[in-house]
Amino acid sequence: MGKLDIAADRCPWVHSSERLDSVPFSGIRKMFDMATPGAINLGIGEPDFQPPHEAIDGLCQACRDGMNKYGPTNGILQLREAVAVYSKRYGKEVEAKNVIITPGGTAALITIMQSFVNPGDEVLIPDPGFLVYRPHVMLAGGVPIEYPLTEEGFQPDIDAIAELIGPRTKAIIVNSPSNPTGGVISKGVRNAIMEMVADHGLFVVSDEVYDRFIYEGEHHSFLCDLDHSIVVNAFSKSLAATGWRIGYAISNAETVDQIGKMQYHMTACPNTPVQFGVLKAMPVMESFISSMIPVFRKRRDIISKRIRAIEGFEMVPPQGSFYAFPSYDMGIPSADLSMRLMGEGLICTPGSSFGPAGEGHLRFSYATTEDKIEKGMDILERVVGRMKGTRR
Ligand SMILES: Cc1ncc(COP(=O)(O)O)c(C=O)c1O
Repeated sequence: MGKLDIAADRCPWVHSSERLDSVPFSGIRKMFDMATPGAINLGIGEPDFQPPHEAIDGLCQACRDGMNKYGPTNGILQLREAVAVYSKRYGKEVEAKNVIITPGGTAALITIMQSFVNPGDEVLIPDPGFLVYRPHVMLAGGVPIEYPLTEEGFQPDIDAIAELIGPRTKAIIVNSPSNPTGGVISKGVRNAIMEMVADHGLFVVSDEVYDRFIYEGEHHSFLCDLDHSIVVNAFSKSLAATGWRIGYAISNAETVDQIGKMQYHMTACPNTPVQFGVLKAMPVMESFISSMIPVFRKRRDIISKRIRAIEGFEMVPPQGSFYAFPSYDMGIPSADLSMRLMGEGLICTPGSSFGPAGEGHLRFSYATTEDKIEKGMDILERVVGRMKGTRR
């Protein structure tokens, strides 16, 4: 009996669409639902900080001041202007007309797919890559085509992408710093992708939600050519406000207008008081981020050292985001290994959740305390040691 039949059996008026049926429930959510209380959670992808008090005061004040109504579809002008100014740090002239505020990065990504992908259009996605890209393309009727990342540094493989571009290719999704790999795209790779996209009349959707979480090198934004890119970002990670559901997309004005047209039908407008909260936090954004990064860098160093000391585990040191993505040599599917670890009190995410090339890896989020990272690594070391017969 299929999923549809079960639903129809219990409540005959419920028939999920073929579109919805074609995509799975999130594997990560399923893992979290099964977690036992007290487990060390290195699965969750959100900073363990609270947003700066300016943001919280701004949000509360906006509610008290009566800003509890619908706002403009593309977001309040003051925040669009503030995001434009904030984005100039990448050396590109951005204006309010180039910015649309969205209810989070995920909403921006799906709205973009709904706005520009036709049935049968191919969209190239990274493998391994953030797990919404594939279903978002499919929900728009498109065909996701995975492109590989190089072994050193998890860079998009330019030659492979060139081979995959065909007559039905519409767009390429890139993500740097990456979830799950922690890889950061080099300037050369960024330029090569932009060149390919311009040559073939395609566009890039660049997911830059971790752009402030860089520990080595620098972020090379795709803001450099807004006629061929839509840059997605969010305040979820940079303001440690994942629950606020607030993000944005930047592109040329015409593209932004089209996304706004779709956003109107999907959500009417982003959350009004939250936008005022973020606006109040913009002046302290840099100092807030500067307070978080050294903490994350230290955690990255701790987890990298621990993982690399485990026999059979190998890892390219993550340069950005807050994930470690080691490979292992135990010949067991990552979903099974994650279940085993969960049984011992450690939650992580199987690499296979991020695409076929993620198999043979585990993803650990280090957006948590050093103590929890150490305890989690103790469990990993113990379980792996037992499986390899080097520990009891
Ligand atoms: C790579 C990447 N893009 C987008 C998002 C979604 O961001 P938001 O929480 O703003 O929807 C996430 C969330 O984990 C992510 O890891």
